[in-house]
Formats: sequence, C-alpha cells, structure tokens
Amino acid sequence: MESSVPCIGLRVRSRTALWGWVFEGIRVYNGVIFQYKEHLDRLYSSAKAIKLKIPLSPEEMTNAIVETVRRNGLKDAYIRLVVTRGVGDLGVDPRNCRKPSTIIITKHVEPSYGAEARQNGVSVTISSIRRDAVDATSHEVKSLNYLNSVLAKLEAVEVGADDALMLDRSGFISEATTTNLFIVKDNEFFTPHSSAGILQGVTRKRTINLVRELGYTMFETTLTPYAVTNADEAFLTGTLGEILPLVKVKGIEIGDGKPGAMTRRIMDAFIKIRANPTEGLPVYQETQKTISRR
Ligand SMILES: Cc1ncc(COP(=O)(O)O)c(C=O)c1O
Repeated sequence: MESSVPCIGLRVRSRTALWGWVFEGIRVYNGVIFQYKEHLDRLYSSAKAIKLKIPLSPEEMTNAIVETVRRNGLKDAYIRLVVTRGVGDLGVDPRNCRKPSTIIITKHVEPSYGAEARQNGVSVTISSIRRDAVDATSHEVKSLNYLNSVLAKLEAVEVGADDALMLDRSGFISEATTTNLFIVKDNEFFTPHSSAGILQGVTRKRTINLVRELGYTMFETTLTPYAVTNADEAFLTGTLGEILPLVKVKGIEIGDGKPGAMTRRIMDAFIKIRANPTEGLPVYQETQKTISRR
C-alpha cells in the first residue's frame, strides 16, 4: 500500500549533511494524536542509539507537533516527524553537523485510508532481500535507511504482489517492508520476535496487548515461511495501514484466501481503540492551552 504523503522538496545547501536521520509516522484521529507517547519514546530512543541529539526536549517537541496540527486545522491526519543531523559538510562524520534540526510534516488523511485493502486483504511475495541482521545497523532504530524495504517492494511490484515479506539472516520471517506480521493458528496468535530484525512497531505492540486483552494466547517467536503459508489467518500491522488482512503469500492462499474471523475481531477492536481519546494526546482540548508555545 502506498503512502499518500507527498514528496518534500528540501533546499540543499552546499554543506548540508545527508546521513543518518531518524523519523516517526504518527496518525491523528478525530483531533487525538494516537499512541503519541509510544511514538515519541521510539523517536528519542532511535536518536539516542545513533548519538543524534534531538534539538527539542520531549515537551518542546510535543508543543511543536500540537501547534503544527492545530494551525493546520487538522482533525484526521498523518504526521511525518523527521530529525536531521543538520547542516554540515558532505562527509559521514556527524561531528561536522553541529545543529540537528526537526521537520514536522502534516497532511490530512481520512481514518478510512486503505479501506479497500482492509476489506479485501493484501498479498505478499517473499523477498530475496534480507532485513538487516541484529548485529548490522540496528533494526530497532527508525532511521531513513530503508533501502532493503525499497528493494523488497520493487520485487513485490515485479511479481504483482502488494508487498513483500523479508527474512532475517537465518531464513526466519522478519516483517514486511513497512509493517509487522501476525499469524493465527488454532486460535492462537504469533508474531516474529525482535531477534528476527524487526522494527518494533507501535501498532504491533498495541496489537499484542489487544490480543491479550481479548483473552487470546499471544506468542513472540520465530516463524518460518511454511508457518505463514499454513496459517489459518494472517495480518500486517502499521500506523498507516492499521490492521491489514494478509490473504496470499507467494501465490498461496492463507486459509480460505479471505480476511479471517479472528483478524476481523482484532480489526474491529482496533477501530474502537483508535477512537478512544485516552489512547493518545488530544490536540484541541482546553488543557492543551497550558502548553507554552514556541
Ligand atoms: C520496517 C517497518 N516495520 C514495521 C513498521 C510498523 O511500525 P508502526 O506500527 O510503528 O507504524 C514500520 C512503519 O513505518 C516500518 O517501517
């Protein structure tokens, strides 16, 4: 599924360093920034892991994001938050970039975004491109280093699939190009463990908790391609796609090739969660006025 966020044009100054940015993609539903704390935590953790000092404190960042959404009058939106190392020379040494900077892009996105894919399900191929190994650049850092996802997506396009699953170095399933994978087998839920080189998705974490809240058994474990093709049901999770039924892998139907009943249950429960103001940060509440403006 394609992101609907437009490409941005940056004025590239002759001494602008282009390496090692971190970012977040966040949804706003009905004026509430969904799972805000979780996204902010991941942003600061990613930056810390690559020694990038975010120029704003979490409180200042929150004020800036709230103000951006508010000034654009957005109720349902996607926020793309990017922290760059700032202006420096063209080399890779980050010490030449002394002043990191923050870019906040917002765009109206309907809550129904991706409805057709959610209704009918999506297909994947299994890519020849591996996720980064755990001891390569950290898979847990949400950086703009997405070349393996881009190449895997191109492989999917070539074979007419919607997306691609990538394997880890040992051949176990890791994740799709911009989403995490869950399977259902005999009424139990399974998702690849962090050791398979996944990005620890915010939607994944909320889904794991949701599955448990609904009383089902949830395992974080190793998954083979065989386990996916022979699952009863499968779905992908991510901020933009939310919960996406996965109905075909490498041309093989999962279950009966239609979104399954357990998947639908999780999707319905997730829709209630994202409509719950306590699951995020309200932008337009009176209390927000106490947050100082930058
Ligand atoms: C590689 C990768 N995996 C998983 C995800 C899903 O993460 P989240 O649920 O936080 O959007 C993303 C989201 O951008 C991603 O890029």
